Amino acid sequence: MTAGNSIADPAISIDRLTVRFGAQSARPVLAVDDVSLQIAQGEFVSLVGPSGCGKTTILNLLTGLLAEPWQGQVHLMGQVPAPGNPALSYMLARDCLFPWRTALQNASYGMELRKVDPALRDSRARDLLARVGLGDFMDKYPKALSHGMRQRCALARTFALDAPVLLMDEPFGALDAQTKLQLEDLLLGLWSEHRRTVVFVTHDLAEAVAMSDRVVVMCPRPGRILADVRIDLERPRSIRALQQDRRFHEIYSHIWGLLESGVANDEK
Ligand SMILES: Nc1ncnc2c1ncn2[C@@H]1O[C@H](COP(=O)(O)OP(=O)(O)OP(=O)(O)O)[C@@H](O)[C@H]1O
Ligand SMILES: [Mg+2]
Repeated sequence: MTAGNSIADPAISIDRLTVRFGAQSARPVLAVDDVSLQIAQGEFVSLVGPSGCGKTTILNLLTGLLAEPWQGQVHLMGQVPAPGNPALSYMLARDCLFPWRTALQNASYGMELRKVDPALRDSRARDLLARVGLGDFMDKYPKALSHGMRQRCALARTFALDAPVLLMDEPFGALDAQTKLQLEDLLLGLWSEHRRTVVFVTHDLAEAVAMSDRVVVMCPRPGRILADVRIDLERPRSIRALQQDRRFHEIYSHIWGLLESGVANDEK
C-alpha cells in the first residue's frame, strides 16, 4: 500500500527537506528531518501524525513564510516558495474572517488582494457561498454566523481564490462531528469540481482516509515520513457511506498500526 514517490511535473516537490528551529540555541529542534515528498497536480494528500511531527512547519515552508533557514529542494508549481504566491491558498482551523466584513465581503477578500476584476470576484464569491449553503447569509457579519457557518465562509474564500494548490491545516478540527461531516462532503464536492491540489493536515485519521488519494504518515522528534499510503477507495466518495465500507476500515486499521509503531519506535 506504499505509494511511489516519482511523479512527472508535480504540483509540489520536496526533496531532502530539513528544518531546524533555534539552530544557534543550546537546544535546537529538528522539526523536519530529511523529508522527501512529491504531490501530483490535482491530488488530495493528507499529512497525519502526532503533535509536533512537523506538519504545520511543512505547510508554512510551502507558503514561503517560514523564517527559519532550511535545507533541501522545495518547489511549488515549479517555483521556489515565496510569500504572496498566487498559486497558493491557505485555510486554517480558525476561520480568520474579518468581523467588519459581511460573508460576501469576506469571501471576496483574497480576490481583492489579488486584484481580480470586481464583477468576477462578486459572482465567484456569491456562487461559492451558495454552494456551501450560505446563499441566504451573504450580507450577514461573522458575529451572526455559527462556528460551522463561518468555517463554510472560509472554505468559500479559499476556493474563490482559484489557486491551483490549497494548503489546509486542520480546517475542520474545531467543529462538532455533524458539521464536520457536512464540510468534508462539501470540500470533496468542490475538490472534484475544481480539481485543485490539496495538502490537508488533520489529526482525524478517518477524515484523512475518507478524503485523500494518499495519506502521508509522519512521526516526531525528529519529524520524518513513516509511510506514504495510497487510498484505493473509489470516487466519488460519500463520507457517510464510507463508515460502512469494509475496505475503508481495513485501510484505517493499517494506518493506525503504522502510527502506533511510529510512536513505539520513538519511545525506544
Ligand atoms: N517557531 C518555532 N520556534 C521553535 N520551535 C518551533 C517553532 N515552530 C515549530 N517548532 C517546533 O517544531 C516541531 C514541529 O512543529 P509543528 O508545528 O510543525 O508540528 P505539527 O505537526 O504541526 O504539530 P500539531 O499537530 O500539534 O499542530 C515541534 O517540536 C515544535 O515545537
Ligand atoms: Mg500543526
